[in-house]
Order: sequence, then structure tokens, then C-alpha cells
Amino acid sequence: MKINDFPSISVVGATGAVGKICLDILNERNYPIEKINLFASSRSAGKKIIYNNNELIVKEATKNAFDESDVVFISADSNVSLELAPSAVNSGALVIDDGSAFRMKEDVPLVVPEVNENDIKTHNGIISIPNCTTTPLVMAVHNLRKLSKINRIQATTYQAVSGSGSMAVSELHDQTMSIINNDEIIKSVYPHQIAFSLIPQVDEFMPDGYTKEEHKMINETKKILHDNNLKISATCVRVPIYYCHSEVISVDFEDEINLKDIINVFKSASGIKLIDNGLNENYPTPSFVQGKDDIYIGRIRKDSSNNKGISFWIVSDNLRKGAALNAIQIMDSALKLGKIPKFR
Ligand SMILES: NC(=O)c1ccc[n+]([C@@H]2O[C@H](COP(=O)([O-])OP(=O)(O)OC[C@H]3O[C@@H](n4cnc5c(N)ncnc54)[C@H](OP(=O)(O)O)[C@@H]3O)[C@@H](O)[C@H]2O)c1
Repeated sequence: MKINDFPSISVVGATGAVGKICLDILNERNYPIEKINLFASSRSAGKKIIYNNNELIVKEATKNAFDESDVVFISADSNVSLELAPSAVNSGALVIDDGSAFRMKEDVPLVVPEVNENDIKTHNGIISIPNCTTTPLVMAVHNLRKLSKINRIQATTYQAVSGSGSMAVSELHDQTMSIINNDEIIKSVYPHQIAFSLIPQVDEFMPDGYTKEEHKMINETKKILHDNNLKISATCVRVPIYYCHSEVISVDFEDEINLKDIINVFKSASGIKLIDNGLNENYPTPSFVQGKDDIYIGRIRKDSSNNKGISFWIVSDNLRKGAALNAIQIMDSALKLGKIPKFR
């Protein structure tokens, strides 16, 4: 590809957990450095980031910073997205937003390309990526729906601390060292100790007893699958590991489904790999999946309490397919579909 075949991109939040992986993925793809601009808050302005053995300077993200950009990836918090995305859109750029600010807005497609790539065609300047637990869930369920109508889904998650950003990774490290050294444990990101423990709360609680993260999983899944009547429940748990989110999914079908058909549908699915041989203790783990692009599924079995149900285990790298990779794949799809406004 020639240099002008690459859209000019801006990465807002380049110093954060997702931003760093975004740059790793661009580097893996030999994305030309001349086509990349990095932004973060004023705190990081002037910082140097090494990209493909060259230095890129981080600039402060301001409303008029995106005039030269074809695509703006925003991986910061929701307030930053709400402030910067409209002016980036006004300048003609396509915004691909990693946060939750726009996900449930009717005129903003929420996209996992393997599932609903065509929704990209309806964008009005902003495309959102789903929450990092929603993405692997919809990838699995989208394929299972090819076999039978699904009556109910239950999901339980085991979420790594990097899902809360780079400060949470430091908190797990610091608390672990404090426990080993018998020092005082300091809590700032999470309300409870996370090192050597679990926290059955991801994001804030809602009046119905669910957390916002659980609401996101439920509502985003319905939006991506275009099925408001889908019955789905979720429990989200934070676990003391750095990278990769795992999920136990139970699905009740309308019909009785053969396990072989389930395995075959996953085997032929794009973006999914199977490691499923429990008898040989073969199943995906976070330490194995870290750094990988695909989501991994294992422990597929019939639900012993329901002959029309199955349960299985998914592991996915929350910073890759759960965030940066999905965003970059959305850019690829938008390019293919001619839906990057300044770059047709
Ligand atoms: N982590 C995940 O697994 C994951 C998955 C899916 C989606 N997301 C979403 O991705 C976004 C980023 O998450 P993260 O985990 O990368 O967080 P993070 O590690 O805390 O990084 C936040 C980034 O935002 C930048 N930032 C903060 N205030 C800013 C401002 N006023 N203007 C411009 N940049 C600003 C920070 O820059 P400074 O260095 O200057 O502070 C930093 O680069 C969030 O919306 C999150 O919900 C995360």
C-alpha cells in the first residue's frame, strides 16, 4: 500500500492502557508514522512515545486539533468524548469512540465488525465500540443464533483490572507488593482491596441492584444483535489479574442442539478460536490469551439442568478485541465500505 492509501488518524488517550495497545497494533500493521497524531490531556503534552523506533510527541487534545484527521480514535473518559467528538465530526473526521458516552444513542452505530459490520453504513460521524465484556459475548451469541432461537442468556464475568485503566493496573501491583511486604494497603481506584481478593462490583450500582457494567452488557448486546426482546442477565466481577476478561455464559435455546453443531459453528466463526478438551485440561486462560486478537472459547457442555441449554467459557484480551483492535477493525470496515467521509 502507498502512504496515501492510509487514512490520517489521531489517537486521543495515547498514553492510556487502550491507547498504548492501539499504537502496538498500528505498529504491527506497519501503519506509517506520518499518518499518526497522538493526543492526551495537558498533563502529557510534550511526552515522547516510541513508535517503530521513532519518537512521536503527544499533544494536548483540543477541539480544533483534528482538522487534518480522517479518523479520530477517542480512548479517554466519557467527558472527553462528549467535549471533543462533535468538533472532530464537524471537521469532517470519522470518530471511533471507545467509551460509553454515545453507545446507546440511536443515531450512533455500536459495532463489532464480525457481527454487525453493515451498521457502519448508518453512521453520522460517530461509531462506538461496545464495552469490553459485551464484545466477546455478542461474537459468541451471534454465531449460536444461527442454530436456534435463543430464549435466555446468563453471563458471569471475571474482569481484569486493566479494564479500569492504567491506574488500576498500578493499584493491583502496589497492593500486592504491600501485602508481600506487610505494608499498609492503599485503595484509590476500587472501593475494596483487589490484590488477593475479588470485587463483585464493576462500575456504580443502579437502583435495581445491578451495576452499570451489567446494564451495559445487557443493553449493548440487545442493540448490537438488534433484538430488544432478548432475555439476558449479567453479574460482573473484578478479579486480581492484569489483562484479559473471562466470562461464563449459559444459553437456553428454543430447540435442543447437538454439541457437535455448536463446536462447528464456533470453529467456522471469524474472530473465534476453540480450545476445548477438558479431559486433557485444555481450555483458554487469561495468561494464554493476553496479546492475542481472537476471542477464545472452551469448556463447552450441555447444561445438566436443561437439555436445551449449554454453558461455556470465553476469554478475550480486553485491551485488544475488547477495545483497540475492535476500533481499528471498525476503521478497516469503514474504509472498505467507503464510509470515512474525508477519505473516499
Ligand atoms: N481498558 C479497557 O479494557 C477498555 C475496554 C473498552 C473500552 N475502554 C474505554 O476506553 C477509554 C480509555 O480507557 P483506558 O483503560 O485506556 O483508560 P486510562 O488508562 O485511564 O487512559 C486514559 C487516557 O485518557 C487521557 N485523557 C484523560 N483526560 C484527558 C483529556 N482531558 N483530554 C485528552 N485525553 C485525556 C489520558 O491522558 P493523560 O495521560 O494525559 O492523563 C490517558 O491517555 C475509556 O472510555 C474506557 O471506558 C477501555
